[in-house]
Amino acid sequence: MLCFAEHVESLRRLAQNLPRQILRPRGSPLKSAYLLGSPVAHSRSPQLHQAAYAQLGEPWQFEKREVKPEQLASVLEELAGPELLGINLTLPLKETAFSYCSPTPEARAIGAINCLRWSDRGWEGHNSDGQGWLDSFHEELGATLQGRKLLVLGAGGACRAVLHKVRGQHPSEIVLFNRTPERARALAQGVERVAAWSDLARELEPGCVVVQTTSVGMWPYQEEVPLAWPEQLPSGLIACDLIYNPSPTLWLRQAAERGARTLDGCGMLVHQAVRAIEWWTGRKPESGPMLAALRESLR
Ligand code: ATR
Repeated sequence: MLCFAEHVESLRRLAQNLPRQILRPRGSPLKSAYLLGSPVAHSRSPQLHQAAYAQLGEPWQFEKREVKPEQLASVLEELAGPELLGINLTLPLKETAFSYCSPTPEARAIGAINCLRWSDRGWEGHNSDGQGWLDSFHEELGATLQGRKLLVLGAGGACRAVLHKVRGQHPSEIVLFNRTPERARALAQGVERVAAWSDLARELEPGCVVVQTTSVGMWPYQEEVPLAWPEQLPSGLIACDLIYNPSPTLWLRQAAERGARTLDGCGMLVHQAVRAIEWWTGRKPESGPMLAALRESLR
């Protein structure tokens, strides 16, 4: 007959050998996060989220699901509950989601939602894209935007997210460029200026930051560039592209060949996920292992 202490010891040994999933304390269900959108087959979010969860020592799962706008309501109804870690949204759901949640002030200002969480109060929607880009800029370049001239290409949702964050960073000036200038004009606030698409070269100056937010150069059209760089670039220019597939884009490679510092879109994808996980769980994973997992998956 085993005495009480031996029972405890044998149970402890048994527990040590059980997989983490089975060892969940009661009330702490195996949680899952999701990427919803269409198409999602190409998405690298599972790789980078799993790298984050492993680092946090959590057995959480990440799943991507093909969801069209008209299916969002029923999918949200299905996923709501204590087993849900959170939801990432991609096209074409980032605006549809406003109908089903309370948006944070940031999501409202950007006009798009890229993450959702469920609580007793219902669904809340947030946007971590702009913060993700800013975190990536600070962390990967070790630079700030303060006092720099900022030239932003594009006028879509990604552009709105970046603009929302950079406005508070005290750049000396923000100039917007878009193929369709009316769309850029609709975004310009205060002292922001819209320049002609063809005037980019004329607007460049030493130490300026150019942020490319259009879809030009994205796989499978990786041979395209939004605009041609001049032969000579001003000193200290920083060229950024939000596209992460391919990384770097042809446009970014051309900037690097002319001596610019460059920032590809991988960091933004990673840091928006870092901020989403922090918003869902209150815990912030390190970006390094996530960035490594993403780059590995793109090879
Ligand atoms: P997202 O929400 O992902 O930013 P979007 O709202 O479709 O996407 O915006 C795409 C951006 O890429 C727009 O700024 C678009 O320019 P227009 O407003 O003129 O359409 C830009 N874009 C797409 N294809 C382009 C091209 N071939 N040349 C220049 N800009 C292009």
